[in-house]
Amino acid sequence: MPVCKIRHIRLLAAVLAVPILVIVSLQTQAEYADVVLNRNSEKEGVRPVVYPHWFHRIRFQCRVCHTELGFEMRVGANKVTMEGIIDGKFCGACHDGETAWTVENCDLCHSGLPGMETGITGGHKTLGPGNW
Ligand code: HEC
Ligand code: HEC
Ligand code: HEC
Repeated sequence: MPVCKIRHIRLLAAVLAVPILVIVSLQTQAEYADVVLNRNSEKEGVRPVVYPHWFHRIRFQCRVCHTELGFEMRVGANKVTMEGIIDGKFCGACHDGETAWTVENCDLCHSGLPGMETGITGGHKTLGPGNW
């Protein structure tokens, strides 16, 4: 390919990248982004869990999880275990084949890349209780 054409493509890529970056950074500022849970997953031979907080937050009220199901509002603070989930606690309260798909779908939850640590991917700014 002639050099001028390659430059042309690079320029085009740069122009396209700007709006894409803007969209991505706006999305990562969305409330609580994704939560990575990896207290034991990788140690126990499965991939880290990626919990899409935003996805759930727009479907349920905060109190469903943070009051009724007892999830403390701090990333990494909850000792979530697979045994508990299978018993219908934590994620298992909904991922039971009725409210949402079952725990047999390991890969849908254990979808993180090896090495991802417990924490938030993307923005973690919250408006704080009472302000959302
Ligand atoms: C379907 C369940 C669910 C709903 C609904 C939900 N959350 Fe969460 N939230 C979680 C889980 C799970 C975590 C991660 C806990 C952990 O890592 O142990 C979390 C984490 C958080 C955190 C911690 C963020 C940080 O920086 O440490 C805050 C704050 C929070 N949620 C606020 C809210 C608010 C406000 C709402 C309602 C607008 C809400 N959540 C709705 C499940 C939920
Ligand atoms: C609805 C989401 C979800 C599904 C589906 C799921 N897991 Fe988990 N799993 C979790 C969460 C959350 C944890 C706690 C993550 C952490 O902190 O490491 C966990 C932890 C684990 C652990 C770490 C040790 C322990 O017992 O807590 C293993 C091993 C595990 N899961 C295996 C599986 C297997 C195998 C499947 C499929 C049969 C599965 N998981 C399906 C959410 C899920
Ligand atoms: C209050 C109920 C509730 C709780 C608690 C809950 N989920 Fe969900 N989750 C849902 C529903 C409903 C869906 C949508 C199911 C569907 O589309 O069929 C969903 C979907 C998902 C998805 C797929 C998101 C997508 O983009 O399609 C993942 C991943 C997931 N949940 C992980 C988790 C993990 C991990 C936990 C525990 C930390 C958890 N969920 C706790 C109700 C819940």
